[in-house]
Amino acid sequence: MRTDFCGRITEEYLDQEVTVCGWIHRRRDHGGVIFLDVRDLKGICQAVISPDNKNAFALADSCRSEYVIQLTGKVRPRPEGTVNNKMFTGKVEIDVQNINLLNKAETPAFPLDDYQDVNEDVRLKHRVLDLRRPEMNARILKRSQIVEYIRKFLEKNNFNEIETPILTRATPEGARDYVLPSRVHPGNFYALPQSPQLFKQMLMMAGMDRYYQIARCFRDEDLRADRQPEFTQVDVEASFIDQGDIINLGTELILQLLKEFADSKLERIESLSFQESMDRFGCDKPDLRIPLELINIGHLAKNEEFKVFAEPATLDEHKVVALRVPGGNSLSRSQIDGYTDFVGKLGAKGLAYIKVNSLESEDGLQSPILKFLSKTFVNTLINDLSVEKNDLIFFGAGSSTVVNLSMSSLIKKLGQDLKLYTSDWAPCWIIDFPMFEKTDSRLSALHHPFTRPNSTIEELKNDPLAVQAFAYDLVLNGYEIGGGSLRIHDHEMQSAIFEALDISKDEAKNKFGFLLDALKTGCPPHGGIALGLDRIVMLLTHTDNIRDVIAFPKTQSASCLLTDAPNVIDQNQIDELSIEISKEDS
Ligand code: AMO
Ligand code: AMP
Repeated sequence: MRTDFCGRITEEYLDQEVTVCGWIHRRRDHGGVIFLDVRDLKGICQAVISPDNKNAFALADSCRSEYVIQLTGKVRPRPEGTVNNKMFTGKVEIDVQNINLLNKAETPAFPLDDYQDVNEDVRLKHRVLDLRRPEMNARILKRSQIVEYIRKFLEKNNFNEIETPILTRATPEGARDYVLPSRVHPGNFYALPQSPQLFKQMLMMAGMDRYYQIARCFRDEDLRADRQPEFTQVDVEASFIDQGDIINLGTELILQLLKEFADSKLERIESLSFQESMDRFGCDKPDLRIPLELINIGHLAKNEEFKVFAEPATLDEHKVVALRVPGGNSLSRSQIDGYTDFVGKLGAKGLAYIKVNSLESEDGLQSPILKFLSKTFVNTLINDLSVEKNDLIFFGAGSSTVVNLSMSSLIKKLGQDLKLYTSDWAPCWIIDFPMFEKTDSRLSALHHPFTRPNSTIEELKNDPLAVQAFAYDLVLNGYEIGGGSLRIHDHEMQSAIFEALDISKDEAKNKFGFLLDALKTGCPPHGGIALGLDRIVMLLTHTDNIRDVIAFPKTQSASCLLTDAPNVIDQNQIDELSIEISKEDS
């Protein structure tokens, strides 16, 4: 139907006849001549219809935005003064001989030619239209190129693509499961996979050696700007490898992606231990583009009379930290109040600060808490933090959980607000994770219960919280873009982990008997990683909204505004599934 795309009509075609198809992006009438900007996936070109061409002119005159047309004409240079150097096709126009109306369109829900920020719910409801916007279809196309690149990379490294089931049993990754009732087994349910974790491990046990899958995962969890209930992992597993092999593979892949899709020249990715990352940044996904760090000042604070600092400095699982912001004394009172509210929403009871107007005299420091602090405290602080004139020091004190959350979030917010970024890309590996964490006096696995601990069964039983795991996360610009581990390949160790997690033998057999049995068949040492494809594409396309890189995403409340899913189903269907809906919910 066409000789080329609209977006490809350049001087190369001068004096030639072309046929293009696309949508009417904009129509303008000028001095009896009609100009049509015609758009397709590759871009926009200008077509001109003269009144001498009566049929084409009449048709062009009836055309509205988003009508679908085919047009044929000769390519000619644009008259002097009308060249648009910002457009790829801006030096030429098509002198139209013939137009074919392929389809009409209703007035669009929002204009595409003069697009201004439209409420996201409106965009999601009219997603078909939204995806036509060049900015949006460019992202979706980039995603396709990134996937193609990743596939080629993995194939070159001898990974085999293998599919795993979607209708399956629960796979514990820490979220709630999406479940589906079975019609033929009344009262039984499938769970959608939170990840292909157990299947990829069983593929290793089956001797498949190197597996990958661009895998859809489903998690019923609280949604945020970087989380979707249904998302895609680049899921990888390999046999007879150690932690360094997977880290090298992930490093090479990410560096190549950054080079290919973001012109980055980065050559290495640094590693930080989990503990170091928590101490320096208060979180295990630091944004290393931001040159701000927390300094633990518990040893200084514990002798002070100021209870806000002294109490947490002496309590277990509490901490006191200082955060030096170079040049931060230009922050106004209301900006500081804003940051105090910000950390308050994350549980902090306050945000003490000292402004450093000068270091020459005592009056050079400005702060509501100075009167509560000893000279020794202040002087040691200035020394230990290498404080300089015009700095501002923030303080966080309280339970480690709250201080870590609030101060790590404050670092990211300051980085964004004050534009403190020192580079475009700052990836890092976080390694040496603890195997377990304690929540509500119970142990839970920090990664998942199939992660190999760096200990014997004996050590695990004696002091589980001291045990580290062969687990690693990949972080880019403050986002966790991947996570993985070496796996347990010994069924006794796997049973010991279940026991530590308070999973009884019966429950373990019932839920994971198939895995424990497979582990006894001769399981190779193995491990892997899963990269969050959506987050990687999000970063490479410079957005902070994961929904911008998914063609048909869900809202924060997990619904699809386009199709209205989830929706009520027929009573017949409900009966067939042998389930009953309680009255209050229907
Ligand atoms: P994990 O749970 O860390 O590991 O997931 C791997 C990566 O997937 C991405 N991710 C998400 N992306 C969007 N929306 C979500 N709701 C979401 N949840 C996770 C993150 C994360 O780093 N089976 C293990 C991997 C392994 O051990 O090999 C797993 O799923 O980028
Ligand atoms: P208060 O004694 O609560 O009036 O607090 C005195 C100063 O300490 C104020 O500037 C508070 O913002 C700050 N502050 C109070 N609690 C904390 C905390 N947990 N962490 C950091 N600063 C705090």
